Amino acid sequence: MKVVIDAERCQGHGRCFLAAPGIFGFDDLGNGVVLGDGTLNDETLELARLAQSNCPEHAISIEE
Ligand code: F3S
Repeated sequence: MKVVIDAERCQGHGRCFLAAPGIFGFDDLGNGVVLGDGTLNDETLELARLAQSNCPEHAISIEE
């Protein structure tokens, strides 16, 4: 499974990288980015789901 951020939806709320700093970072504009290729394991999947549920713009998705 893989996590992605829709750059067009992201408004830089920053909840993703506060909830899961090992998975998400931010770019020069303060918008969220996925670190690495976004591949998730059992542990990071839980954190990615937490971040997903906390993003007010619904910009985070988890793909099979
Ligand atoms: Fe963007 Fe949502 Fe994170 S708006 S910075 S993806 S919490």
